[in-house]
Amino acid sequence: MNGQIVWKKVDSLVPGDTSMETVRTRNDQPPLVHLGQVVTQEVIETLKANDVKYLWVQISQITPPVVNPQKIEKLKEEMKDIFQSAVEKMQVNKNEIRNLSSEIVNDIVKNYSDKISLIFLIQQNDEEYTYIHEIHVGMISVLIGVEIGMKINDLSRLAFSSIIHDIGKIMVPKEVLYAPRKLTEKEFEMVKKHVEYGAKICEKSNVEDPRIISGVRDHHEKLDGTGYLRGLTKDQLGLEPRIIAIADVYDALIANRSYKPSWSPYKVVSELVKMASFNKLDKELVQAFVSVVGLYPVGTTVLLSNGEKAIVTGNTMGHKTRPIVRVASGEYIDLAEEKKLSIVQVLD
Ligand SMILES: [Fe+2]
Repeated sequence: MNGQIVWKKVDSLVPGDTSMETVRTRNDQPPLVHLGQVVTQEVIETLKANDVKYLWVQISQITPPVVNPQKIEKLKEEMKDIFQSAVEKMQVNKNEIRNLSSEIVNDIVKNYSDKISLIFLIQQNDEEYTYIHEIHVGMISVLIGVEIGMKINDLSRLAFSSIIHDIGKIMVPKEVLYAPRKLTEKEFEMVKKHVEYGAKICEKSNVEDPRIISGVRDHHEKLDGTGYLRGLTKDQLGLEPRIIAIADVYDALIANRSYKPSWSPYKVVSELVKMASFNKLDKELVQAFVSVVGLYPVGTTVLLSNGEKAIVTGNTMGHKTRPIVRVASGEYIDLAEEKKLSIVQVLD
């Protein structure tokens, strides 16, 4: 089944989603819920009674994903190979990156419609995250590119740059890169260098387009000059790094990492909007992203104006506050069409 996996507060669960874990309180007792079980109101009550606070669930969705999860998994494996061979040769194969980029661009252009569902794969392992992150950032970047009207050649270049934006991490020691704790100042300085290493790998691989290189080298710059490595400001930053920066922050916050749990999609979108208002991220590009995923992305639990609890399962382009939701009875309601109902509160 296709559906976004999210880490949900038990209080925010809506019956109908599938548990992605088995939860036990005691080994000699049957589990409170098991992997693959559809969560019912009874299960929710049992979890609450046993003081379970969070559960990994897969959201049941009827809106087809813009890139399907099996494809994302396949692209991740290809990305892993690209990274691993880069370690040996300190360069990347341009044709491999081009092929991977065009798979992402083709899927998104083909599946781009007014009903959007964007699915991310959640990784429990930090190393796997490095590869999936490149694919996710590629997907989000291309979606933003499509939304602002970029042409196919520009989208291909953007995809190329975004799927190798962190390639320089192969030169950061693994014990620093995957440290399951807050980094020391010295370690963080080492991690920061990945943008410079990435640009070097591009040059060594004969990637000549400066716009591709700037996406790799400048994706941690902030519009107000507080980013790294060079402290560039808005007028010094090209379109590629400004788009990749948004995609990078989104995927990093939504991810489940050893040093931080997954943030709710609603909280992440709010954070992007906040960062744009503080002149860290490009406001217009954040707006373009929000018009695709909505202010209430898939997985957000909301309260409707009729008092019912509902979960967001898809978004309609241009209706950022009126997503497609599912209520406890299992009925899907498209708020872009059902104008009598509205969202009055977020329950996450
Ligand atoms: Fe990065």
